[in-house]
Amino acid sequence: MNKQLLIVGNWKMHLTVHQSSLLVHRLQQHIKTHRDIEVVLAPSMLVLQPISVELDKRRFKLCAQDAYFKDEGGYTGEVSFAMLGDLVQYAIIGHSSRRLFFGETLDTVRDKVQASIRNDIMPIICVGETQQERDAHETRQVLHDQVTTALMNVTSKDIEKIVIAYEPLWAISAFNKNVTAKPEDAQKAISFIRQQVSELYGDRAAKHMRILYGGSVNEHDARSYLELPEVDGVLVGAASLNYLQFTGIVDAAHQIQTERKS
Ligand code: PGA
Repeated sequence: MNKQLLIVGNWKMHLTVHQSSLLVHRLQQHIKTHRDIEVVLAPSMLVLQPISVELDKRRFKLCAQDAYFKDEGGYTGEVSFAMLGDLVQYAIIGHSSRRLFFGETLDTVRDKVQASIRNDIMPIICVGETQQERDAHETRQVLHDQVTTALMNVTSKDIEKIVIAYEPLWAISAFNKNVTAKPEDAQKAISFIRQQVSELYGDRAAKHMRILYGGSVNEHDARSYLELPEVDGVLVGAASLNYLQFTGIVDAAHQIQTERKS
């Protein structure tokens, strides 16, 4: 099956409105339209609206980094998926920084996945184990729990809209500098995630689902993950803040797609 490769830039809590606008300008100068690649930008909540005006929507899609699972109400400080419906096509849900710093539980992630689907936003669900869990050989158990809870109320029709990103915490640059996952680690974990999806929704849904790798991906090693048969894209943090690095990652994806076609 020839799926589009999905390249997502997660800007996290970086860049002002002005800096974001400059980055978008540069990305639009450098990244070409590729029919077999989807490029998605996840700026801060504050930046989504102004960026949406200047973004070339044929080339880039927008993604929220998070949102609250209630559609509206007295939840001071929150923004709902319902409010983002017209603005973004994707939302990152359950990123490890949400789970770690903001106490998001498996159930919160499950509710956010539901809210996202309800509001026609495609969830990018982040899963992954900590270093400690890895050392204790608990990776499979952790992934199983995270995947099955997040998908708990997802119907077999809605499973098509779901993207999962495998992001081992020990390989995320903000937590651990200079440590990267070996492509075979990414491949193993992603196969396992696909197997979980297959057990819940069948083989077809599992094959169809896009599963990404994330954790210190840069323009030099992107290819080693993207060329793996199980990996359908990358979720990029630090390197997405630099237009040359991010463009390099999109170029690597394009090269792989071109080779696959020939
Ligand atoms: P990183 O971040 O590429 O900077 O490691 C990835 C992520 O946290 O999504």
